[in-house]
Parts: sequence; structure tokens; C-alpha cells
Amino acid sequence: MLKRPLARIYRGTARNLALLARRLRAGDVVAVPTETVYGLAANALDATACEKIFQAKGRPTTDPLIVHIHSLGQLAQVCEPNAAALTLAKKFWPGPLTLVLPKRPVVPGIVTAGKKSVAVRMPSHPAFRRLLALARIPLAAPSANPFGGVSPTTAKHVREGLGIRISHILDGGPAQIGLESTIVDLRNPQRPRLLRLGAVTQGELERVLRRRVPLVARAAGRVRDSRAQIAPGLLARHYSPATPVVLHAKIVRAGDANEAFVFLRRPRGQRGRNVFWLDARGELPGVARRLFATLLKIDAMQFAKIHVELAPGDGLAHAINDRLRHAAAR
Ligand code: TXA
Ligand code: MG
Repeated sequence: MLKRPLARIYRGTARNLALLARRLRAGDVVAVPTETVYGLAANALDATACEKIFQAKGRPTTDPLIVHIHSLGQLAQVCEPNAAALTLAKKFWPGPLTLVLPKRPVVPGIVTAGKKSVAVRMPSHPAFRRLLALARIPLAAPSANPFGGVSPTTAKHVREGLGIRISHILDGGPAQIGLESTIVDLRNPQRPRLLRLGAVTQGELERVLRRRVPLVARAAGRVRDSRAQIAPGLLARHYSPATPVVLHAKIVRAGDANEAFVFLRRPRGQRGRNVFWLDARGELPGVARRLFATLLKIDAMQFAKIHVELAPGDGLAHAINDRLRHAAAR
């Protein structure tokens, strides 16, 4: 069997962006940088193009895609926004927030897993925004990892996971946020619901909407199948590295040399091949940014287990711990 060449990584030059925009318009898939994690993008209005996303990821077609837009004009093209959606859009877009709204007929069923709603996000990453502007189409994109794996936060991670299944990767540097977007269900604007935790916190959403935004899909293990249908990406085993993950409120000392120990902050007086930390001072934005990259790196080192500290506090800590619980669920 012929071996497929590895995907090419493109720097975000004007010429490369123009080329990739043409590839997208022609129905190809392109991996793209976003401020949250890298995505695997295709023309959201072209069912055949979007099928290629599912094939490349090995993702079941019951798991719908997020549609990325450049402008509020494109929002009205793909869905029926309501006042609550426009309030959140004004406050948080472009940025790490995805809104679930009633879809318009132009969005093919494969994008939404046959549902009447579509998930929409206006990303802030400058290179991705330029690509969206040049392509002049909304782009459907889930995270650019093989189904069930850890989301990629660099172009290199994308190539390691999907390099033989795709041809084009746009490099936009390491993702600034490092966790997938917050998802809010706004199909009924009177009853907003939080489907996935992210960098936009529950508290911020509630302050801006001036109402409660209850979390419907909870941490791993407690997600029932019926609930998973609401936000299928919240299946318990999502985001899992291959190495078993064990969570701790606090790790006092790194132990067994066969096992990896991941501290939130740089531990004093502990060094070794099996000692890792997420942020020098344990600050949560840094922890979030480095989390997936650290799990991917350790996963490749063949440790028997990965021990990780949970993040203290609420807000971003909830989103970090949500991903850790998913990584530990097996
Ligand atoms: O930050 C992010 O959200 C990244 C970047 C690339 O934008 N995308 C991402 O997509 O993480 P991912 O792999 O999580 O897949 C999209 C998820 C689905 O698994 C599902 O949970 C949710 O978005 N989703 C999509 N359409 C939906 C819908 N109509 N109703 C409810 N949830 C939906
Ligand atoms: Mg994903």
C-alpha cells in the first residue's frame, strides 16, 4: 500500500492564507489554529466537504460540528439568533464561546447530526479570522484530533494525530487558551443552559444574561447517554490520553519513577524525568494553556500512570477540572 505523505504545515503568510482559502472553497479540509484548540475545518455549507472531517477524525456522524463565522452577517446566514445570543455575542465575540441556536436550512444535516440546532462560534485567532475573511464561507470545525483523543494546541500535535489523514495545516502558534470553547444552549433564550465549561465562565454568562445558566452536562462518569445526546462531545471518555490518569487534590511528593507526576506549579526541590508542572506559579490561564500539551507529551513517554493535581477555585478551575475528569474516566 502506498504511504500517504504527511500533511504540510503552512506559516500564515498572505500567500499561504490565500491558497488555503481556495482549498477550503474547493471542498478540502484544512487544520486551523484557534485561540482555544486547533480545529479541522471545511466549508460548513458543503455536506461532502464536511464528510471529510468525520472520515479524517474517525468521528461518528452522531457528534455535530461547530460552525465558525467571521461576522454577525454570517451568524444570521446559518442560524436564527435571538436577543440573548446577540447580548452574549456582543460581550464575548470574537472569543471562546459557542452558542447553540435554531439552524437555517442552508446548513447541511451532517454538520448538526440531523438536529434542528447548530453550534456557532466567532473565533478571535487573527490568522483564522483572516482565513475566514478570505474564504467568505462559514467553516465547520471540531477539534483537530483523532476521535476521543486529547485536543491539539499546536500545529505539530495536529500533524502527529492526523498527519497521514489530511494534507494542510495552518500554523498559528500555540493556542492561547488551551481548552475548548464554552458551549451555551440558547435554543430557548428564556432557559439558557451550559453544555460545556470553558474559558468564558458560568458566572460571567450569568452576569451578562442576568439569569441562571445551569450546567446540564456534568463531569465524566455522571454523563448519562441521554445527556450525551444533548452535547455529544461530553461523552465520558472524551479527551482521554492512552495512559491512565489519576487525580489528586494535592500531590505532596513525586513517587514511583515509572509514573508521571504533574503539579499545577513548579514544586520546590523536586526534579526528575517524571516530574512536570503546568505553570511556574500555578496561575490558571497558564495551567489551561499547557494542560493538553503536557498530557500529550507525557502520553508519548510510556509511563504507567499520570498523576495530576486538580485546580483549586471556581471559574477557569472548573473547566480545567472538567477536562481532567474526562481524561481520568476510562
Ligand atoms: O473551542 C472549540 O470549541 C473547538 C475549536 C476548534 O473551535 N472546537 C471543538 O469542537 O472543541 P468539538 O470537537 O468539541 O466538537 C464540537 C462539539 C460537539 O462534540 C458537541 O458537544 C457540540 O460541539 N455541538 C455541536 N453542535 C451542537 C448542537 N447542535 N447542539 C449541542 N451541542 C453541539
Ligand atoms: Mg473534540
